[in-house]
Amino acid sequence: MAMHIQKFKVILFISLFVCVNSWKSCHETFCDRIRARPQGGSRNVKLDFSNSVLKLNNESVQTNLNVEGTSQNLKFKLEVVGDSSFHILIDESTPRYRANKALNEVLPPLKIDPKKNNNNTLVTVTHGNNKALIYSSPFKVEFYNNNTLISIANWNNSLIFKTDTNQREIALDILFPNVQRAYGIPEHADRLTLQNTVSNQPYRLFNVDYGNYRVDSTEALYGSIPVLYAHGIEQSSGIFWLNPSQTWIDVTTSPDDVDAYFMSEDGPLDMYFLMGPTLQQAVMQYTKLTGTAPLPQYFTLGYHQSRYSYMSQDEVTSIVSSFDEYNLPVDVLWLDIDYTDEKKYFTWDPKRFKEPEKLLNDLKKTNRKLVAIIDPHIKNDENYDIHTTSKREGYYVKNPDNTVYSDKCWPGISSWLDFLNPRALDYYANLYARRGFNHSNIHIWNDMNEPAVFNDHEPSFEKTMPLNLIHHENRKHREVHNIYGFYQTVGTQTGLLKNNPNLRPFILTRSHFAGIQRYAAIWTGDNYANWAHLRISLPMCLTEALAGVSFCGADVGGFGGIPDDELYQRWYQAGAWLPFYRGHSAIDVPRREPYLYAEGIQARVRTALHQRYAHLPLWYTLFREHELTGEPVIRPITYHYPKEVDALSIDNQILAGPNVLVAPILEPSISSKKVYLPGGKSQIWYNIDDNNKAFEGSGYHTINVNLNSTPVFYRAGSIIPRKDILRPTSTGTYKDPFSLYICLNSTGEANGTLYVDDYESFQYRKNQFLYITLIFSENTLSSQLKDGATYSPSAKIEQLIILNPPKDIVEVKYTADKESATATSLQYNSEKNLLSITGIAIDLQKKFQIEFSKKNNATIVKLSSWMLVIIITNLMFL
Ligand code: NOJ
Repeated sequence: MAMHIQKFKVILFISLFVCVNSWKSCHETFCDRIRARPQGGSRNVKLDFSNSVLKLNNESVQTNLNVEGTSQNLKFKLEVVGDSSFHILIDESTPRYRANKALNEVLPPLKIDPKKNNNNTLVTVTHGNNKALIYSSPFKVEFYNNNTLISIANWNNSLIFKTDTNQREIALDILFPNVQRAYGIPEHADRLTLQNTVSNQPYRLFNVDYGNYRVDSTEALYGSIPVLYAHGIEQSSGIFWLNPSQTWIDVTTSPDDVDAYFMSEDGPLDMYFLMGPTLQQAVMQYTKLTGTAPLPQYFTLGYHQSRYSYMSQDEVTSIVSSFDEYNLPVDVLWLDIDYTDEKKYFTWDPKRFKEPEKLLNDLKKTNRKLVAIIDPHIKNDENYDIHTTSKREGYYVKNPDNTVYSDKCWPGISSWLDFLNPRALDYYANLYARRGFNHSNIHIWNDMNEPAVFNDHEPSFEKTMPLNLIHHENRKHREVHNIYGFYQTVGTQTGLLKNNPNLRPFILTRSHFAGIQRYAAIWTGDNYANWAHLRISLPMCLTEALAGVSFCGADVGGFGGIPDDELYQRWYQAGAWLPFYRGHSAIDVPRREPYLYAEGIQARVRTALHQRYAHLPLWYTLFREHELTGEPVIRPITYHYPKEVDALSIDNQILAGPNVLVAPILEPSISSKKVYLPGGKSQIWYNIDDNNKAFEGSGYHTINVNLNSTPVFYRAGSIIPRKDILRPTSTGTYKDPFSLYICLNSTGEANGTLYVDDYESFQYRKNQFLYITLIFSENTLSSQLKDGATYSPSAKIEQLIILNPPKDIVEVKYTADKESATATSLQYNSEKNLLSITGIAIDLQKKFQIEFSKKNNATIVKLSSWMLVIIITNLMFL
């Protein structure tokens, strides 16, 4: 057990991680009124295709939609946007709140050529390979890709659009034929494959503060991203339901199709149909709409050490020293709420954090960064200028009677900034100019922004704001609930960029909504130190990644509770393979920085950290590729192998990019693990955790494991960039040499990519980067450089490791421009199935070629050049 773990006091306070089972089920909300769908044929939902109303042009189809039982003519519009996604908007004539902030940019309508049939029953819209058939009565829309039916909106004629003042709910169902699985709609503590909710509660999207959450559950959590993918062997597609009000989704899966019935409390029907036809394409179509994550700074991919709370600046610096003393890398130290003066954000405790600049500078000297927490609630204290200003200027969320809303949170009675008010948002962004927060070494954590409210006195307590509160422009809280926290991160990003326009800011947020990836990373909130929560962290982050949010992690070790030694180590091993890697723990559990543990445990944590740091060039390249293409950084197996039935539900393994497959140990006391390797018999995978042994991608394999094991496989046919020297920080590795792991396939080929820049600034957007494609073929490694990109890194490639190497390589010759050189050391290691080449220094900026000559070839080459010399000499004497 832990060595120096200090005794801990049990602190009585409103515990965030005690499970409060008071969250509502469907029948306690509007969901109850509409879950039983209106039954098909009997009702009339009709689009008006009469010539006087219908407007067809090369941008859109617009007309009126009449729903039996409502007096209003609703407005209907269909257009094609983004990467060939069909957008349907159904709204009242006075538009409801639209969550367009979730979209990346204004999406210009793409050209269409809609055609109406003669008897006014059908309009056909074609765009490239895609087609929408819009039926007038009963209203439905069928979507086709290459003439294959992909999805049907309102197939069951159960559309709902209520227009009473107090009942404004909307609903619609979508059928996805010929698919077997549904994924998406985070955040839930659930598996990758969505459950059939018919005899259960529907999935709920309603941002709430819910600690120690139940796993395998459809209950709401901190974030809401209303994108659902229907996935199958033959085809895949998706629906993005752009609505930030409370939403419930009934999912019905059968072997033949998926039916998703979306129900929202308010808002228009604002829907984007992602046409696939593969999961990979559907995900990229979604990120075309909501954007990708800007490339983070390199350090953000290193290890983060947090705790609720580090209590003084001396404590922070001493933790750094201990990490150094025990040779454990760490890049970032985190400050939870106790650094503030009485939980007043943008202040520092006058005694314990009296010199924040010194702390930030001291950390900078050792290449460490600081992340400090800023929550959205403001202490009601008449001596706190942020409160008095916000009250005076009307920056707070209001009660229905227009008074300022206040209730309890960490500081006691507080009020909440209305980030939807542009003036309040601007004011909030400018707060980052305050002491300490304007430093280049600080980054920000936005927590409790669902928003969490300690309002257990409320009759329908769900630890969040009442839905009838009022925001900017008289919006009710219920219209915007799920996007409230998102707006906070927008302000945070603006503030940090104002301070340091050329530094990429890092923000972590708990509440999130569609599009959050453009502003912040997320984590899975207050998990608990048990195996179920370790296990669920993989599908939770995989699902987030498919929903655009790759930068996701879970509190390593579990936030609440005390992990036993085995769980602790396993969490460090698994956590090293999620994009965001942070150890964090609650206020009432013993300290658990890795150096507090006995040497054996510490050594395994060190190995896990080392593995993380060694792969930073890979993670960084994947993040850059995500930014460019929208491809997730981590992916479920089925993303690349959709035809493999057995892989459809695998979510205890992760693909980090296309080439690295990780099967972390997620259960106690096991000595073997079943690992699924995809791709068929001809696809080889090398287990880098076990002497690079080769396995065929033929399905399940049983792998022996011990406490040191984390099965990690490199795909044969790939090249993995690494930096293998273990340093205290990622910044300290900038100048270290790269190693390329060249994993040959059966035809002796491999390829990969490497992205490099200054790791910190926005100069990469001005072509200051290198993006290198590496190709190994016919015993030659060559590079291609992205045109126009220039960056001069000090690091070179100084090691080549060939897995499954060709035999008898005796010479490795490097050429670039007119330079050439020969590697000085070649070492075969048959036990590890590799050839290691050192004694070369490959300049990344130049296009290069490296030839690997075999014994015979080398001799032949040498012989032939001798023969040439002899022939020439003879000729001369002729
Ligand atoms: C709730 C967060 O989820 C947790 O990580 C944090 O430590 C506490 N709030 C205190 O700020």
